[in-house]
Amino acid sequence: MASAGEATPGAGASSVTVRDMRIEDYEAVRGLWSEAGLPFKPQGRDSPEKVALELERETAVFLVAEVDGRLAGVVFGTHDGRKGWINRLAVASAYRRQGVARLLVEEVEARLAARGIEITAALVETANVGSLAFFRAVGYSHAPEIEYVSKRRSVDT
Ligand SMILES: CC(C)(COP(=O)(O)OP(=O)(O)OC[C@H]1O[C@@H](n2cnc3c(N)ncnc32)[C@H](O)[C@@H]1OP(=O)(O)O)[C@@H](O)C(=O)NCCC(=O)NCCS
Repeated sequence: MASAGEATPGAGASSVTVRDMRIEDYEAVRGLWSEAGLPFKPQGRDSPEKVALELERETAVFLVAEVDGRLAGVVFGTHDGRKGWINRLAVASAYRRQGVARLLVEEVEARLAARGIEITAALVETANVGSLAFFRAVGYSHAPEIEYVSKRRSVDT
């Protein structure tokens, strides 16, 4: 697992710290996802047990952002050996448009690049125009011609 890191934004929020998520952050992270209206799988891959296991893996770059000691944002970066993925990105509404998500995503990209992963991607719901605008603003290209298919062992997975 990558060591804890810190980053500060060039503009906007003045005291943002980005660090590795710890399992002790789980409840606060879950609260943040709920507040952000983000779909997540508390009985499946987002359960505390699964998150604790995944945190130990080399493939996980799970980061939180704090402002004055309060949880302001979270991102679950992962990679599959070929490509990196931005998952479960959320910023508390009180801290939006201050560069927090940009910091989190750039830190994931840097850590994945250090592991030889040179492309990162995200799955975004079509209706989530704010998220699509965010990803475009931080340099991602949008491919609306690509359809998402998946197969899962249970609805909770
Ligand atoms: C999407 C989200 C993570 C963005 O977080 P954020 O910290 O506010 O984003 P940033 O401040 O780093 O934004 C960087 C740039 O992205 C663009 N951007 C971000 N949010 C935007 C929005 N809602 N509408 C339009 N552009 C937006 C802007 O260009 C912004 O720069 P600016 O503020 O100087 O104009 C946040 O709105 C959120 O948590 N949404 C709910 C959960 C969600 O949809 N997560 C993504 C799932 S795929």
